[in-house]
Parts: sequence; C-alpha cells; structure tokens
Amino acid sequence: MKHLLSLQSLSARDMRRILELAAKLKLERANPAHRPLEGQSWAMIFTKASTRTRVSFEVGVQELGGRVLYLSPRDTQLGRGEPIEDTARVLGRMVHGAIIRTYAQKEIEQFAAFSGIPTINALTDDEHPCQVLADLQTMQEVCGGYEGKKVVFMGDGDNNMSRSWMWAAEKLGFEFVICAPRGYLPPALFMKKFRSGNVSIETNPAKAVKGAHVLYTDVWVSMGQEEESARRMTDLVPYQINAALLKKARRNAVVMHCLPAYREKEITAEVLEAHADTIFQEAENRMHAQKAILALLGAK
Ligand code: CP
Ligand code: NVA
Repeated sequence: MKHLLSLQSLSARDMRRILELAAKLKLERANPAHRPLEGQSWAMIFTKASTRTRVSFEVGVQELGGRVLYLSPRDTQLGRGEPIEDTARVLGRMVHGAIIRTYAQKEIEQFAAFSGIPTINALTDDEHPCQVLADLQTMQEVCGGYEGKKVVFMGDGDNNMSRSWMWAAEKLGFEFVICAPRGYLPPALFMKKFRSGNVSIETNPAKAVKGAHVLYTDVWVSMGQEEESARRMTDLVPYQINAALLKKARRNAVVMHCLPAYREKEITAEVLEAHADTIFQEAENRMHAQKAILALLGAK
C-alpha cells in the first residue's frame, strides 16, 4: 500500500490491516513507543472546510512522532493557479507525505503520481475513504463486526460517503442498501461495477430498513453543492432518519452519521441524541483509523 486514494483502489486485505492496527493503536494510545513518523513532515492541503478530518490528522501525525504543515490553498500558489503537478513535485522533494481534501478525485491522483510521496484522500467529491474506515472500526466495536451485517444509507445516495461505503461492502462482505429517490442514486453504469450482490438500491424507506443493523446518513447538501440546496432540502425529506423509520429496522439497530449533522433535515434531533454515543465514537475513531493509515504508509 503506497497511497490511500480511495476504497475503490484499496484491497480488502489492506482494509483489514488498517482496521486491525487501528484497534491496537486505540488501545495503546498512551504508549509512546508508536512513533513511526519520527523525523517526518506531512503536508495537509485542504481546499474544503473541515473540523474532524483536520484535527484528527493533525493530532494523529503528532502522536506518531511527525509534524504537520497545514497549507490552505488560499495562502499558497495553488490558489493563484499553480498546477497541482508542479505543487506535487515541489512538496515531494520536501515532505514525507500529503493529506489532501479537495473537489476532483483526479487532483489527488495527479498529486500522488507527480509527488511520489504517500498521499491520503481526506475527502473528494468521489470518496471519503478515511471516514468509512473509521465507521467500520465503530461497527466492530458497537455491532461486534461488519461481516454479514446490513447497512442502509439514507438520503443522498450518490455522494462521496455512499460511494466509499459501496466499495467497502463489495470487498468486505456485508450488505449495503442505498435508499434514496430517483435523481439521487448512483448511475446504472457505475452500479455495474458491483458484482458481489452486496450492494443494492431500494427507493422505499420502509422496505429498505427492514432487518437493518445500521442506519447511516450524511448531509443532504455536500460541500460544493450549495446552489442545489433548495431542491435537495425538498426532494430528500422522505429519506430522513427519524423515530418512525427507526422502528421499522431491526430491534437495537444502530444509527450512524459521519457529521456534521443538520437536525430535522437528514436526521431528527431526537434520534441523533439517542445515538450520540455511537456517532461521536465514530468521530473519535477518525483519529485511530487514520493513525493506522499513517503508520502503514509512513513507516520506513
Ligand atoms: N466527517 C468529516 O469528514 O468531518 P469534517 O468535514 O469536519 O472533517
Ligand atoms: N458528503 C459530505 C461529507 C462531509 C464529511 C460532503 O462532502 O460535504
């Protein structure tokens, strides 16, 4: 494993290696012996806003013995149009790894190719792999594992979160149902890539959540989609996670959310608060899962 660019390109074996190490690093957080990034500098280039991802990576790199440089495109030449290929070749000669949050997936792929240093996807329009790895760690802790479980993704069924979940389910052997209205579903051509039978679509919420172990949701308006806000806020109303829907899932079903959450939109305040322990455990696990990724990519 040289980079972490997507779950589409990550093997099941590497996903399992990350999860195994994440559990160990979480247990042994206080152990000062885990410093595989000693002497390393990692760059963080974030074109989009972030709370969890930024803090968890900054703390994670530091805990592993490295240091971070947070580079906002606003203050670098990237913001004035310097191509990513040139930025990558410069940084590749100075830092040991890069963590990038941006719009186009192609940009992080170009960065990885031109820099030659380990590159991590901290969210693009296509995928949010670190979040799903942290969510799988949470499922291991809360649900006793992910294999054989049924996860239902409610809301915008064709965003970065749903796509990373699709690849995880395809490769790791659990059921993943996308529950969204027409217009918010992955295109048929993309669905053809999923041949395991683990990934499916159900537009009817009551049918989708039947037998579900996990109900998952994300914002209805992802970063970059602000202009579509009014339409999305209307179209997705029937796909809210609320107490009535939750009753139709498996008894003791778990509710998960990558955060930030918009109460009374994709999830009611009542359900969010009732499941806050799991939801904030997911947020914490960002740091543990990403420390595992950093350790595996950065170890010399
Ligand atoms: N879940 C997540 O990635 O949160 P941030 O946008 O705050 O990093
Ligand atoms: N789909 C959301 C995820 C935020 C963590 C977005 O891209 O804004």
